[in-house]
This record gives sequence, structure tokens and C-alpha cells, in this order.
Amino acid sequence: MYFLGIDVGTSSVKALLVSESGKVEKSVSPLYEFSTPKPMWAETHPILWWEATQKAIRDLLDGLDPSSISSVGLTGQMHGLVAMDGKGQVLRPCIMWNDQRSYRECDEVTSIIGRSEILRITGNPVLAGFTAPKILWMQKNEPELFAKIDKVLLPKDYIRYQLTGEFFTDVSDASGTCMLNVGERSWSSSILDAMGWSKCWMPEVTESTELTSRISVSGSESTGLSVGTPVVAGGGDCAAQAVGSSIVREGKVSVTLGTSGVVFAQSDRYRVEPEGKLHAFCHAVPGKWHLMGVMLSAAGSFQWFKNKFAKEESRREQEGGGNAYDLLTEGAAQIPSGSEGCMFLPYLSGERTPHPDPHARGAFIGLSLRHEMNHLTRAVLEGVSFGLNDSLSLMRGLGIEPSSVILSGGGAQSGLWRQMLSDVFNTNCFTVNAHEGAAYGASLLGAVGIGSFDSVESASDHWIKQTEEIHPGENAGKYQSLYSIYESLYPRLQKTFHALAQYSEE
Ligand code: XUL
Repeated sequence: MYFLGIDVGTSSVKALLVSESGKVEKSVSPLYEFSTPKPMWAETHPILWWEATQKAIRDLLDGLDPSSISSVGLTGQMHGLVAMDGKGQVLRPCIMWNDQRSYRECDEVTSIIGRSEILRITGNPVLAGFTAPKILWMQKNEPELFAKIDKVLLPKDYIRYQLTGEFFTDVSDASGTCMLNVGERSWSSSILDAMGWSKCWMPEVTESTELTSRISVSGSESTGLSVGTPVVAGGGDCAAQAVGSSIVREGKVSVTLGTSGVVFAQSDRYRVEPEGKLHAFCHAVPGKWHLMGVMLSAAGSFQWFKNKFAKEESRREQEGGGNAYDLLTEGAAQIPSGSEGCMFLPYLSGERTPHPDPHARGAFIGLSLRHEMNHLTRAVLEGVSFGLNDSLSLMRGLGIEPSSVILSGGGAQSGLWRQMLSDVFNTNCFTVNAHEGAAYGASLLGAVGIGSFDSVESASDHWIKQTEEIHPGENAGKYQSLYSIYESLYPRLQKTFHALAQYSEE
């Protein structure tokens, strides 16, 4: 018997089969691309996700009896606006989580509801990545399409609709819409009413372990899954990733170094950072919440740096001389901590935590004639580590003292980066035996949803084990001093970033 987990990601669908003991038996991830038709925009047509999902499931089922699939658990990129008409057709490409076009609408939603009300109800300020300001953008800029809206779905829930014909979402994903009462774990009538939007647009919202629906005849024809296979609610990718890294009890914190960087702490009660600098969302563990900091370009900064500048390393990779990332980090390891006075700000796509500012931008600061490629590489890794530490500091300020930090995501494959994070956080860090991220968490939620485990906690204890342990080393002290310099940079540069923004939007 297998639990199928599906993660509708930014650039690929990841689907995997997990055995009853928690072992990943098979994993596939067909790719797609998102488009940036204008600066600050990011869109994908949901049909691309569905095509990739069908392919992924068919590849997984190849040579397998479909009745061996016990359940399907779903996860995906959060916040995306999938607007559907009454015939179940998608009205326009999804406006994705990393799309910043709706920054003006954020102010409008905030003034309609009131800043403190928004914070009290949704646990967060209105941010450009979130769903509600995107709906308002559509209302103002595409009134004819807006008038046809019949359902508002999140990316993974569009896939659920294709698989089962039913409209559901879960509390963790719904938390990122800015329309959920996060404390009460239900849609907020006061927000929807104040915006003049229909509650009927919103899918039924459940806990992440609820069995929402089953594979329909058409879902079965498209994928090869058996009609009636249970589909469990699942969670937003951050919550599912956390579940898949054993963050299922208060005191445990995870840091995920994907394109975006996520610092995630479970909270047994609903608590909100007073200025809304951390996201306060429902967790995928029923009845629990979480606090989260999101850095928009984490390993994404490193990827940008490699793609744009590491021509020599990429050439060597193409000639079979090693992996370009490894070659870069080997170079960075030769440079002393602090990169001899060069610092990098990782706000390449604007930022969310702790500076919710779509106009923030990246920077190298402190360059001298002495600096070369290896310094810049190290500065990128350090800048991202400092940025993640911003979120951890806010959590510490709320009384969450992590006993340990679990590191995961592509960036955590680098030993240099893992040690740097432990030094900068000044805390013990661990890795775990689960490397498949959110899709793995979705499989786990699927297993709990059909009763194979009696709780998310017990499934996590059975499936996930700590592997490597990393302790703060000799650089920890120096990094604490450098962090206070890093912290001072954004406030000083904010006006400059905003003045430059008018040129980047031309
Ligand atoms: C979370 C967030 C991203 C997306 C894409 O708030 O915006 O992590 O979910 O992965």
C-alpha cells in the first residue's frame, strides 16, 4: 500500500509514493514554467499544473496496481489566485504567490477593513503576495472577468477539483488568502462582506487531515487512479513541508532553503506578532497554529548568482567537472567568515519578512578591489543566512526559543551553508531523513486522513528521524557582530530602493 503525495510547486509538480513505513518508493517531478509578462508579475495557467500532475501520476503508477494507492494528499504553492467561472473554467492565468502587482490594492484592503482588524482576524497584514489584494486587482483591472467569478481556488485545490470534481481547501493554505479568520479557523464573513465578495466563492475549509473527497470517474480517466481513492485535504506547502520535517510540536523550528526561505515554528495557541512582521497561520496539525517568516529569495539568490555570474563554474559543470553549486561553495569555503567586509542583501524579488516591501532590492555592500568571485559567493550565502536569522529573532522575541532547528531544502545540501546557519542562529541544527519536502508532508497527512495513524504527531514520530547534528562553531561570535551590521542596512537603504523602483517599473 502507498500514500501518494502531490506538491503543485512553482516550477514543477512533485509527486511521490510513500510506503507504510515512510519510505519514498518513487518520486517524479515534471517541470513547467511561469511567465513574467510585466515587471513584478508572475503567472502560470493552471492547466499546465494539471497536465504535469496527470503525467506525474501516470509515471508513478507505471507497473503498479492503482488499487495499491491508499490515499492522495495534496499540497502546493500558497496564495495563488485561481479564479473560476460557473462552468468550472479557469478565467485567467493564476496570479502567483511571488507576483507583486497588487501592492496598491494592499493599502486599499487595509483601509477598508482597518489595520488592527486585519491583524486581529487574519494574523497578518495584507501583503502583495496574498490572495485578497489580487482579487481586488482583478476587480479594478479586469472587471469583465471579475464579474464571472464563481469560485476562488488555491493552486492545490484546483488540482483537487480536477481529480474529484469537488471544491475544498484546508485551514493552513486558506490562512494565506487574507480572508480566513485564523484564530477561528473559518472564512471571515466580516472581511468578505466588507469587500463585497461572495462567501459562495470560497471552497469549504477543513482541517488538513480531513478526507475531503474521492477520485471521480473523470479524475480516474485522466490519471489512472482508481475511482473512489480517498483525497485528503493536505496543506499549504509551508505547513506540509514542516509536517514533512517533523515540526509538529511547539519548540521545534524548521528552516527551509528553497527558492524562498521559510522559518517555521509551531505554536499551540493563536499568537500574532504585534506588528504583523511574522505570518501567523493555521498549521496542518489539527487545532494548532504556526508562526512563519518568509524570505522571498533564499536559495533563489544563490541560484540567481550562479545563473548570471558563475559562467566558469557552469562551463566546468557542462564538461563533467562537477556541480556548479559545489564548485562555488568550495570557493566560498576558502574565504574567511564575513567575506572580508563584503555583505549581500538578498531582496532580489522584494521582501516579505521582516520587511514587507515589494520595492526592496538586492545589494552588495562594502566592495573593494580585493574582492573576487569567491568573496561574492560567500557574501550571498551569508546574506541569506542573516536574512533568515531576522525571522528567528522575531520568534525569539515572542518567547519561542528553539531547542533545535531542522534544516531542509536544496540549499541545506551544502555543508558550508549548514554550518554557517548554525553559527549565525547560534543554535544546534539538525537534518532529518526526509528530503522530499512538502510532497512528503502531504503523503503523511494523507496517511493520517484515512486513519493509518491516529495523529500527525504519531505519523511523524514513525516516519521521520534526525540524522546529522550541527553545533555552532568558531565563527558564531563573529557572525553575531556582523548580524547587527546587516540588520542596520535595510532601514538605511529603504528610501533609495523606493527611489530606484520607478526606473525598474518603466
Ligand atoms: C508562503 C509562500 C511560498 C509559496 C511558494 O507564504 O509564499 O512559500 O507557498 O512555495
